[in-house]
Amino acid sequence: MMHDLSAIQTSFQEATAGIVSLQTLESVRIAYLGRKGALAAVFDALKNLPPDERREAGEKANALRREIEQALAEKKSVLERTEHESILKKEWLDVTRPGVKPLRGHLHPLTKITRDIVAIFSSMGFAVAEGPEAETEHYNFDALNIPADHPARDMWDTFWLQSSQKEITNHKLQIPNKSQKSNPKSRKLLLRTHTSPVQIRYMETHQPPIRIIVPGRVYRYEATDASHDVQFMQVEGLMADTNVSVANFKAVIQMFLSRLFHTQIEIRLRPSYFPFTEPSFEVDISCTYCRQKGCSICKQSGWLELMGAGMVHPRVFKAAGWNPKNIAGFAFGVGIDRLALMKYKIPDIRLFRSGDLRFLKQF
Ligand code: DAH
Repeated sequence: MMHDLSAIQTSFQEATAGIVSLQTLESVRIAYLGRKGALAAVFDALKNLPPDERREAGEKANALRREIEQALAEKKSVLERTEHESILKKEWLDVTRPGVKPLRGHLHPLTKITRDIVAIFSSMGFAVAEGPEAETEHYNFDALNIPADHPARDMWDTFWLQSSQKEITNHKLQIPNKSQKSNPKSRKLLLRTHTSPVQIRYMETHQPPIRIIVPGRVYRYEATDASHDVQFMQVEGLMADTNVSVANFKAVIQMFLSRLFHTQIEIRLRPSYFPFTEPSFEVDISCTYCRQKGCSICKQSGWLELMGAGMVHPRVFKAAGWNPKNIAGFAFGVGIDRLALMKYKIPDIRLFRSGDLRFLKQF
């Protein structure tokens, strides 16, 4: 037994003497202290010794185990230190070197300009209202005085959606107006062609006086080119009270545009036609590119066509459940994309939704 112990001790010392890696050290540990290691065999053999011999041999075996454990621990810490030092020598780190800037995203130009628009109108007392993009025929057309057989429908190229009655109920798109219930066609769903339906939705749940803007996405089923896309953004405006006039409209819109473009903007109104306004007008603004000197963009006229507007038609008030007597209001609808094209001098509307980072990074 004693002989075994000193043999184990000598062979352990030899085994550890030349070790340079932690991995080899671990295999030595297993060979001596492991469950099937040299010492385990010694402790196993103790059982067969007579009691008095067993005690003495047991103490010696324990002493040897402690000695081995200690030697392994010391060796391990030495090896760890050298390994650490050699890593430091190989892989150095210059903590004073400038880092790599993380890429930061930013807001889309349409989001930015929408926020600007909302801020300007908010300062003039306008609240922001929203409505669904999947709209019913009733709100998009009928309630805005555009009946099914009216040629004015041709002004808006529409994406119709296939919809079941269940979907309409789930989306709470039922028409509250009794007379409309008898006309199932009005419940047909479409992608809204303008933000004007929100005028009706808002008036149904509010009483005059009101002042709202409605920014949002709209859709047109038409061929795309540099100034037309199948999806774009509009902002609708509606102000109604007992004595709102075209003069109020001119003041509000001139203030809005001048603040949006950070320069004095002139406007002019031309007679036009929209079924939901009477009178209706087209609003032109002084050319933002040439300051009315005449350029190719304004076709030497000094004016750019910007938006539709007018005084709210009494039938629109009625369709929303308001009494049109003693109520007047102006409404307008303008393409946010169009405002952004002008403000940032962008040549093609399709760039906004192209996902092209070379374009987006410029904002
Ligand atoms: N909804 C019209 C369009 O998309 C724009 C418009 C014109 C809105 C006149 C209005 C308005 O509120 O009064 O073409």
